[in-house]
Amino acid sequence: MELFAVCSTFEIEDHSARGFVLQKAVEKDGQKVGEPWPIVISRKGRNYYGFENSCPHQGKQLDAGLEDFMDEAGNFIVCRHHGAQFDLDSGACFSGPCQGQNLKTIQIVVDDGDVCIAGVELFEEDGLDLEDEGPGVMITSD
Ligand code: FES
Repeated sequence: MELFAVCSTFEIEDHSARGFVLQKAVEKDGQKVGEPWPIVISRKGRNYYGFENSCPHQGKQLDAGLEDFMDEAGNFIVCRHHGAQFDLDSGACFSGPCQGQNLKTIQIVVDDGDVCIAGVELFEEDGLDLEDEGPGVMITSD
């Protein structure tokens, strides 16, 4: 199974969530190109959960670019657009306009202190430089 390290485990605080923008490989006119793919990774203790950063209500990015995914009490992922609330671990929406729906889940594997995603073909596999990246790691194709 191919793993792609997104960040180190300590870079996501317990009971919080953090956004990243990866580049997904897509086929366009017979060529493989990268397409920005915003995701969110949440943490509960030693467990990590991955979701596409796309609200089931209107497909918008949950954090609206604010890089803040949590409700004030720090219990749930909240959508900044119309306030839908999601469980940190399952991504299930239990309140708001898309109640009963679910964030699209991404398989997460913790490997040797790294939070990795699995089972997704990414455009750029070697562009990750965790040393000097702030929150919201952007992997570009150059
Ligand atoms: S787009 Fe998320 S609640 Fe409406």
